[in-house]
Parts: sequence; structure tokens; C-alpha cells
Amino acid sequence: MKNQTTHIREIVSNLIKQPSEANSQLAGIVLDMFCTIYIEVANEFNLPSYIFFTSGACSLGLFYYLVSLRFEQNKDLKEYKNSDEELTVPCFSIPVPAKVLPAVFVEEGPMPDIFLGNFKRLAETKGVMVNTFYELESYAIESLLSDSSYPKVYPVGPILNLEDKESGGSDRQIAADEIKNWLDEQPENSVVFLCFGTMGSFEETQVKEIAIALERSGQRFLWSLRKPGGKGPMQFPIDYDNFEEVLPEGFLDRTKGIGKVIGWAPQVAVLSHSAVGGFVSHCGWNSTLESVWFGVPIATFPLYAEQQLNAFQLVKELGMAEAIRIDYVRDMNGEKPSEIVGAEEIEAAIRRLMAEE
Ligand SMILES: *[C@@H]1O[C@H](CO)[C@@H](O)[C@H](O)[C@H]1NC(C)=O
Repeated sequence: MKNQTTHIREIVSNLIKQPSEANSQLAGIVLDMFCTIYIEVANEFNLPSYIFFTSGACSLGLFYYLVSLRFEQNKDLKEYKNSDEELTVPCFSIPVPAKVLPAVFVEEGPMPDIFLGNFKRLAETKGVMVNTFYELESYAIESLLSDSSYPKVYPVGPILNLEDKESGGSDRQIAADEIKNWLDEQPENSVVFLCFGTMGSFEETQVKEIAIALERSGQRFLWSLRKPGGKGPMQFPIDYDNFEEVLPEGFLDRTKGIGKVIGWAPQVAVLSHSAVGGFVSHCGWNSTLESVWFGVPIATFPLYAEQQLNAFQLVKELGMAEAIRIDYVRDMNGEKPSEIVGAEEIEAAIRRLMAEE
């Protein structure tokens, strides 16, 4: 990112020198939440910086809290790794277990300080636009607004991409049409949708437990099932050539008619369909907002980043989701095998999620 500074400086300089009709006068710069390093460029031109924060107000408040623990109180956050401690975080109305802190803040090595150092600089900006809305996180937003040491918070969301249309005739469009046709045949609110985000995949043992849970629950289901992309950090999932290589023997035959296993999922189209009544989700913030937007309740199965915190917020702080797990963590470096969540636990949560009331 540092290497891009010269390019950004040049672009800003040109915008100022050659104002167009569309931007007669540059009034400020909006930076992505991970790009606070470019506040320096804005400062050179005497422009105010604003941040676009892609997660919610609770996450923002927690990040501020961790920044102050680390840099004002000189606390070693590694102590919180696997700790049973609970933290009193101002933007939460209840204590926050250390186990739901994003792993990147408590791990060994230089990463915690790199991330926290980035978020420390939020304080130098004039405002933070958060992808949330007041009614969803009123407690956290009030808490952030009441502390004048933070830049002003603007709840500008939910910002969603509701038109993720695929181009006609493409493989994805064909898949999306097939999924829609299948959903059209299912009764209202009867289908549980399982989807785990851009980076979501499980090892074989975990896939089998999910399959057993689904079969025993007797629920109709639509399951986006993708394969780990390989060893090494941050590997994108890939599609299975054949789902039978990972599912329990006979699963596809036995669940024919009530369930459908797919690869990539057109998530917005699925969540907006009236047949879908529940969502087993990794609790990424986009998915969380989409679930709220379409009124499809979540059963939480967080994997990485701030997803454990989001799961905690949904289940405990807001009381609007069922927990499969709250502090489950998927090791994104693919080094140590993940803990396995058993079929009974998953089945019970799916039953609670899909219950009539
Ligand atoms: C979240 O949604 C926005 C569109 O609103 C998209 O640009 C972004 O890539 C999504 N983030 C993730 C992690 O998928």
C-alpha cells in the first residue's frame, strides 16, 4: 500500500489542478478502512479524510477499544488468545468474551500491531461512514457518538449489492436459473440455505457432520458446498467435480426432492426467495446485512476475521440469531486441523432456526 502512495498523490493532485464538471472542487477523501496510511496524502493537500468502514458499529467500537488497550494501556493482547476472560467494551451492553476477538489481534508476530496501528489512525479522520443503520445497532452507535474522542460516526447503510445479476447464458446464470426453478417448487419459508462466503469451505469430516445433521433434521435445504482451495494461507475455495467424493454414501439419493447441493450460490437471489426460511451463515457482515434485509434468520457458523464477533452480536447482544457456534474458528493457514462441530449440535440449531414460531 505504501508503494501506491505516489500514484494516489498524483491522482489527487490532478483532480485539484484540473477540476471537471463532475468534481468542481475536491472537498475530501474517502478511504477504505484498511487504507488509513493514505491520510498522509490527504493531509499534504489539506483535505479532510473520511473512512468507509465495511463492517458494523459494534466491530468499529471493539477495534477502538482494542487500540486503546494496546497503545494507551500497553496491554499485550496475546494474553487473550484462548482465554476465558470477558471484556467490558463500551459499545456492547453485555461483556464480550475474549474468545470472539478477531484472531488477527491476538496472534503471535507482527500482525496485531499492523492491524491495530491501521485502526489507531481512524482517530485522525473527520468521520467514519459505517455500513450499518441506526435501528440495527442503536446501542453501539449511541455509544460511539457519545465519546467525543472518536471521529463522528455516520451509519450510511445498509449498503448492499442487490443486483448481482449474472450475464445471460453464462455458467453462473444457468446455475442461478436452475436454483430459482428448484426454489419455485418449494413451500414458503421451508428451505434452510447453507452458505459460507467467499472463503468458506470445510474439510471432509466436517462436511459429513453437516450432511448427517441436515438429513436427520428432515428440513428442506439448499447447500452451497465448496472444497478447500489447498494448503497455504487464504486459499479461495473451488468447486467439487463430484459431490459424492465428500458426502456420506447415498446422501444425494436419500435427500433427493427435499434437498439440493450446489457449488457457487447466487446468495442475494436465494435469500430474496420466499421459499427460504433460514440461513446457516458464516456471519460475514455482508451476509448479516442481507439476512436482515430479506428477513431470513441466521444460525451462526463463523469461520474467520470478525465473524465470531458478529455471531456473538447477533446471538447474545441482539438476540436475533440461533447459535450453531459463536467462537468456532477456522484456521485460515490450513495448518492445524479445525475442531469438528458434531451433527447433533448442528441439527438442533437447524431445528430451532426453522421452528414454526
Ligand atoms: C460486500 O458487498 C460489496 C457490495 O455491496 C462488495 O463490493 C464486497 O466485495 C463484498 N465483500 C465481500 C467480503 O464479499
